[in-house]
Amino acid sequence: MSEATLLEARNLRKSFLTAAGVFAGASRGAPRQAAVDGVNLDLAPGETLAIVGESGSGKTTLARLLLRLIEPDAGEIRFGGRDLLAARGAELRRLRREMQMVFQDPFASLNPRLCVEAMVGEPLEIHEPALSRATRRERVGAILETVGLGADAMPRYPHEFSGGQRQRIGIARALVLRPRLVVADEPVSALDVSVGAQILELLQNLQREFSLTYLLISHSLPVVAQLATRIAVMRAGKFVEVGVAEHVLAQPAHPYTRALLAAVPEVPA
Ligand SMILES: Nc1ncnc2c1ncn2[C@@H]1O[C@H](COP(=O)(O)OP(=O)(O)OP(=O)(O)O)[C@@H](O)[C@H]1O
Ligand SMILES: [Mg+2]
Repeated sequence: MSEATLLEARNLRKSFLTAAGVFAGASRGAPRQAAVDGVNLDLAPGETLAIVGESGSGKTTLARLLLRLIEPDAGEIRFGGRDLLAARGAELRRLRREMQMVFQDPFASLNPRLCVEAMVGEPLEIHEPALSRATRRERVGAILETVGLGADAMPRYPHEFSGGQRQRIGIARALVLRPRLVVADEPVSALDVSVGAQILELLQNLQREFSLTYLLISHSLPVVAQLATRIAVMRAGKFVEVGVAEHVLAQPAHPYTRALLAAVPEVPA
């Protein structure tokens, strides 16, 4: 692997049993569908690779493989030069804290009874258990300021915030451990266009401030145009086109990319 690569994936594959396969049982030969079908990917430090494709093309599955939230059927992943799929125990924990995820709905998987301080502080509690409560509170307050929320957000609860503010809290939770890689999976698709634009601008500023590398997932080419340095177009588990963002946007080589570009841009409701 070259020194200049933060994340490298080779020939990644993941298939799932289809509904018919589940019915037939997990025997050999049961019908399976490839969600990720031989993906190769290189991510240089500081760049933003956008992965774009229609619903069901395998974007989220690929993201989960790259963070090793699920195990691939085949392939290799290296992160910071380390074999991610071979990592165990303390090494795996150390690698995991360097890669964090921002979700479309940051609270879908979190306990709504947790206040913002507890939510944003939770990764610290897990990965830096020796921190005093006061230091943890300081770190949480600081990262909330960084994402444009005051420390006065700390005792409040998710339902008290707007969608855009909630996404800022989700970003604070992802950044509190100072990761190197952030995977943002449809970070603005639940938001109005103007609010989404503010979140994208925030992500751009944070990238500069913290030297972050981004994997930005979206079904919309216009959404990623502002941030992406490179774009990978995904269809049915495969990358059909990968290139420098300006080239892909100005001169799409694949008919599927042209179709994505021609799709009606989102308008505010
Ligand atoms: N846990 C799972 N079990 C079975 N099938 C799955 C599972 N996760 C994903 N799939 C299937 O894999 C394919 C790719 O799904 P994935 O969620 O990765 O697509 P996506 O590009 O993220 O779509 P979207 O834009 O809707 O989020 C789909 O056919 C999906 O039904
Ligand atoms: Mg998805």
